[in-house]
Amino acid sequence: MTPDIPRVLNSVRPEVTAALMAKTGLDDARLTELVHRFYDRVRADPLLGPVFAARITDWGPHLDRMVAFWSSVALMTGRYSGAPVPAHLGLPVGQAHFDRWLALFGETARAVCTPSGAAHLVERAERIARSLRMAIEDQRRTPGAVPRL
Ligand code: HEM
Repeated sequence: MTPDIPRVLNSVRPEVTAALMAKTGLDDARLTELVHRFYDRVRADPLLGPVFAARITDWGPHLDRMVAFWSSVALMTGRYSGAPVPAHLGLPVGQAHFDRWLALFGETARAVCTPSGAAHLVERAERIARSLRMAIEDQRRTPGAVPRL
Protein backbone atom coordinates (compact mmCIF):
# COMPACT_ATOMS: atom_id res chain seq x y z
CA MET A 1 0.00 0.00 0.00
CA THR A 2 1.34 3.43 -0.89
CA PRO A 3 -0.55 6.14 0.99
CA ASP A 4 0.33 8.81 -1.61
CA ILE A 5 -1.32 7.08 -4.55
CA PRO A 6 -4.97 7.97 -3.67
CA ARG A 7 -4.13 11.67 -3.81
CA VAL A 8 -2.30 11.32 -7.10
CA LEU A 9 -4.78 9.15 -8.95
CA ASN A 10 -8.44 9.97 -9.30
CA SER A 11 -9.47 6.33 -8.91
CA VAL A 12 -11.64 4.27 -6.59
CA ARG A 13 -8.92 1.56 -6.76
CA PRO A 14 -5.69 3.57 -6.84
CA GLU A 15 -3.30 0.63 -6.41
CA VAL A 16 -5.00 -1.37 -9.19
CA THR A 17 -5.04 1.70 -11.43
CA ALA A 18 -1.36 2.39 -10.76
CA ALA A 19 -0.47 -1.21 -11.67
CA LEU A 20 -2.54 -1.08 -14.87
CA MET A 21 -0.94 2.24 -15.86
CA ALA A 22 2.51 0.75 -15.39
CA LYS A 23 1.59 -2.37 -17.37
CA THR A 24 -0.12 -0.61 -20.30
CA GLY A 25 1.50 2.85 -20.51
CA LEU A 26 -2.02 4.32 -20.50
CA ASP A 27 -2.91 7.46 -18.55
CA ASP A 28 -5.43 10.32 -18.68
CA ALA A 29 -3.57 12.24 -21.38
CA ARG A 30 -3.26 9.17 -23.63
CA LEU A 31 -6.91 8.17 -23.19
CA THR A 32 -8.07 11.74 -23.85
CA GLU A 33 -6.04 11.88 -27.06
CA LEU A 34 -7.34 8.45 -28.10
CA VAL A 35 -10.98 9.39 -27.56
CA HIS A 36 -10.71 12.73 -29.36
CA ARG A 37 -8.83 11.33 -32.36
CA PHE A 38 -11.14 8.31 -32.57
CA TYR A 39 -14.33 10.39 -32.63
CA ASP A 40 -12.79 12.82 -35.16
CA ARG A 41 -12.45 9.81 -37.43
CA VAL A 42 -15.89 8.42 -36.56
CA ARG A 43 -17.55 11.75 -37.37
CA ALA A 44 -15.81 11.89 -40.75
CA ASP A 45 -16.66 8.29 -41.60
CA PRO A 46 -19.38 7.83 -44.25
CA LEU A 47 -20.88 4.76 -42.52
CA LEU A 48 -20.68 5.79 -38.85
CA GLY A 49 -20.75 9.60 -39.07
CA PRO A 50 -24.47 9.93 -39.86
CA VAL A 51 -25.51 7.52 -37.04
CA PHE A 52 -23.72 9.70 -34.49
CA ALA A 53 -24.79 13.00 -36.09
CA ALA A 54 -28.45 11.98 -35.71
CA ARG A 55 -28.01 11.49 -31.93
CA ILE A 56 -25.25 13.80 -30.73
CA THR A 57 -25.29 17.54 -31.24
CA ASP A 58 -23.16 18.61 -28.27
CA TRP A 59 -19.92 16.64 -28.56
CA GLY A 60 -18.17 18.07 -25.48
CA PRO A 61 -20.16 16.07 -22.89
CA HIS A 62 -20.04 12.91 -25.03
CA LEU A 63 -16.25 13.08 -25.33
CA ASP A 64 -15.87 13.70 -21.57
CA ARG A 65 -18.14 10.71 -20.87
CA MET A 66 -16.13 8.50 -23.23
CA VAL A 67 -12.82 9.46 -21.59
CA ALA A 68 -14.37 8.52 -18.21
CA PHE A 69 -15.68 5.28 -19.74
CA TRP A 70 -12.27 4.23 -21.09
CA SER A 71 -10.60 5.26 -17.85
CA SER A 72 -13.03 2.96 -15.98
CA VAL A 73 -12.72 0.08 -18.45
CA ALA A 74 -8.96 0.17 -19.05
CA LEU A 75 -7.65 1.49 -15.73
CA MET A 76 -10.47 0.47 -13.33
CA THR A 77 -10.84 4.02 -11.98
CA GLY A 78 -14.61 3.79 -11.53
CA ARG A 79 -15.07 7.21 -13.14
CA TYR A 80 -17.91 6.14 -15.45
CA SER A 81 -21.30 5.24 -14.08
CA GLY A 82 -23.60 5.09 -17.09
CA ALA A 83 -25.55 2.46 -18.95
CA PRO A 84 -24.13 1.77 -22.43
CA VAL A 85 -26.67 -0.88 -23.47
CA PRO A 86 -29.83 1.30 -23.52
CA ALA A 87 -27.87 4.05 -25.34
CA HIS A 88 -27.38 1.64 -28.26
CA LEU A 89 -30.74 -0.13 -28.44
CA GLY A 90 -32.70 1.12 -31.41
CA LEU A 91 -29.66 2.49 -33.27
CA PRO A 92 -29.81 1.67 -37.00
CA VAL A 93 -26.64 -0.43 -36.89
CA GLY A 94 -25.53 -3.94 -37.81
CA GLN A 95 -22.34 -6.00 -38.04
CA ALA A 96 -20.80 -3.70 -40.67
CA HIS A 97 -21.07 -0.71 -38.32
CA PHE A 98 -19.43 -2.62 -35.48
CA ASP A 99 -16.66 -3.89 -37.78
CA ARG A 100 -15.97 -0.33 -38.93
CA TRP A 101 -16.09 1.00 -35.35
CA LEU A 102 -13.58 -1.63 -34.23
CA ALA A 103 -11.29 -1.04 -37.24
CA LEU A 104 -11.13 2.72 -36.56
CA PHE A 105 -10.71 2.16 -32.84
CA GLY A 106 -7.86 -0.33 -33.34
CA GLU A 107 -6.05 1.93 -35.82
CA THR A 108 -6.36 4.93 -33.50
CA ALA A 109 -5.28 2.95 -30.43
CA ARG A 110 -2.18 1.65 -32.25
CA ALA A 111 -1.32 5.18 -33.43
CA VAL A 112 -1.73 6.79 -29.99
CA CYS A 113 -0.73 4.10 -27.47
CA THR A 114 2.10 1.70 -26.78
CA PRO A 115 1.62 -1.78 -28.31
CA SER A 116 0.58 -3.24 -24.95
CA GLY A 117 -1.74 -0.29 -24.25
CA ALA A 118 -3.39 -0.69 -27.65
CA ALA A 119 -3.79 -4.46 -27.17
CA HIS A 120 -5.34 -3.89 -23.72
CA LEU A 121 -7.89 -1.42 -25.16
CA VAL A 122 -8.71 -3.43 -28.28
CA GLU A 123 -9.37 -6.60 -26.31
CA ARG A 124 -11.89 -4.77 -24.14
CA ALA A 125 -13.49 -2.91 -27.06
CA GLU A 126 -14.05 -6.19 -28.91
CA ARG A 127 -15.67 -7.80 -25.88
CA ILE A 128 -17.98 -4.83 -25.23
CA ALA A 129 -18.86 -4.47 -28.94
CA ARG A 130 -19.92 -8.14 -28.99
CA SER A 131 -22.21 -7.70 -26.01
CA LEU A 132 -23.72 -4.47 -27.40
CA ARG A 133 -24.39 -6.16 -30.73
CA MET A 134 -26.01 -9.14 -29.01
CA ALA A 135 -28.20 -6.83 -26.90
CA ILE A 136 -29.33 -4.98 -30.04
CA GLU A 137 -30.11 -8.27 -31.81
CA ASP A 138 -31.98 -9.66 -28.79
CA GLN A 139 -34.09 -6.55 -28.63
CA ARG A 140 -34.95 -6.77 -32.34
CA ARG A 141 -36.10 -10.37 -31.83
CA THR A 142 -38.23 -9.53 -28.77
CA PRO A 143 -38.99 -5.81 -28.93
CA GLY A 144 -41.22 -5.80 -25.82
CA ALA A 145 -38.59 -7.35 -23.56
CA VAL A 146 -36.91 -5.32 -20.84
CA PRO A 147 -33.30 -4.69 -21.94
CA ARG A 148 -30.49 -6.31 -19.97
CA LEU A 149 -28.53 -3.44 -18.45
C1 HEM B 1 -21.81 0.46 -34.31
C2 HEM B 1 -21.02 0.98 -33.39
C3 HEM B 1 -21.48 2.07 -32.44
C4 HEM B 1 -22.31 3.13 -32.68
C5 HEM B 1 -22.98 3.54 -33.99
C6 HEM B 1 -22.44 3.84 -31.42
C7 HEM B 1 -23.19 4.99 -31.23
C8 HEM B 1 -23.38 5.65 -30.05
C9 HEM B 1 -24.22 6.80 -29.86
C10 HEM B 1 -25.03 7.49 -30.97
C11 HEM B 1 -24.15 7.15 -28.56
C12 HEM B 1 -24.88 8.32 -27.87
C13 HEM B 1 -26.21 7.86 -27.39
C14 HEM B 1 -27.01 9.02 -26.82
O1 HEM B 1 -26.48 9.75 -25.97
O2 HEM B 1 -28.14 9.17 -27.25
C15 HEM B 1 -23.26 6.22 -27.91
C16 HEM B 1 -22.94 6.25 -26.58
C17 HEM B 1 -22.02 5.42 -26.01
N1 HEM B 1 -21.28 4.43 -26.63
FE1 HEM B 1 -21.50 3.81 -28.53
N2 HEM B 1 -21.69 3.21 -30.47
C18 HEM B 1 -21.09 2.13 -31.05
C19 HEM B 1 -20.24 1.23 -30.45
C20 HEM B 1 -19.78 1.34 -29.16
C21 HEM B 1 -18.80 0.48 -28.55
C22 HEM B 1 -18.15 -0.72 -29.25
C23 HEM B 1 -18.61 0.94 -27.28
C24 HEM B 1 -17.69 0.43 -26.21
C25 HEM B 1 -16.62 -0.29 -26.44
C26 HEM B 1 -19.48 2.09 -27.08
C27 HEM B 1 -19.60 2.81 -25.92
C28 HEM B 1 -20.49 3.84 -25.71
C29 HEM B 1 -20.69 4.48 -24.41
C30 HEM B 1 -19.98 4.15 -23.10
C31 HEM B 1 -21.66 5.46 -24.60
C32 HEM B 1 -22.23 6.42 -23.54
C33 HEM B 1 -23.49 5.80 -22.93
C34 HEM B 1 -24.04 6.73 -21.83
O3 HEM B 1 -23.50 6.69 -20.72
O4 HEM B 1 -24.97 7.47 -22.14
N3 HEM B 1 -20.17 2.31 -28.25
N4 HEM B 1 -22.81 5.32 -28.85
